[in-house]
Amino acid sequence: MRQIIAGNWKMFGRLAGVTAYAEVIKAAPSHVSLLICPPFTLLDRFATALKGSGIALGAQDCHATPEGAHTGDIAAPMLAEAGATHVILGHSERRENHGETNAVVKAKAEAAQTAGLIPIICVGETDAQRDAGEAEHVVRTQLAHSLPANFAGIIAYEPVWAIGTGRTPTEADVTAMHTAIRAALAAQLGTTGQSINILYGGSVKPGNAASLLALPEVGGALVGGASLKAEDLLAIAAAAPHR
Ligand code: PGA
Repeated sequence: MRQIIAGNWKMFGRLAGVTAYAEVIKAAPSHVSLLICPPFTLLDRFATALKGSGIALGAQDCHATPEGAHTGDIAAPMLAEAGATHVILGHSERRENHGETNAVVKAKAEAAQTAGLIPIICVGETDAQRDAGEAEHVVRTQLAHSLPANFAGIIAYEPVWAIGTGRTPTEADVTAMHTAIRAALAAQLGTTGQSINILYGGSVKPGNAASLLALPEVGGALVGGASLKAEDLLAIAAAAPHR
């Protein structure tokens, strides 16, 4: 399975930096798929800058309906029109800062797929939940309730405590969780569940990417902070094993 290296710019980045960034990441190795998820305002500029490069473009959220009186929200068809092919949904920062429940994430994923976008659904436990031995249970519950029945997207396992902290789970913990996620996807989605990329996210950097990306069932990385530097994202992509 081709690994996906996805950059999540969060609420960072300005128009002026887009073209130069895009030129650097066009040197990405061909054995991985690259995806950039910038803020909404940069999508159109990125779409122009990445045209013909094979690098995919994603957004970081969408509304659950295709249009309506929802001030400040953005609909999936609008993202598609701006050049996005993917959308991150249910990131822990959305779940926490905007009270997004599994049901909300599921409705957004349905809307994304209806608009022809590939949803990247984020799951992951807090450190309190891991300490209590509930990590796998929490993630299984998120998967059971956040994924539409016809889900055909990407999963990102992002332990909340590893995001932006410089801390990462042990290789054994990542392997155990990704194996559990694969089993849950297969049970939930049948054969589709076998071919879904399961990304790891949370403090992925050039220095730890090779060991994380080599683990079984790790189908790529969702990279926050390190993706803001094009050279770091390239180094992470170069660290992906040739499978
Ligand atoms: P980080 O963020 O790489 O800065 O830890 C990952 C994410 O939130 O997707």
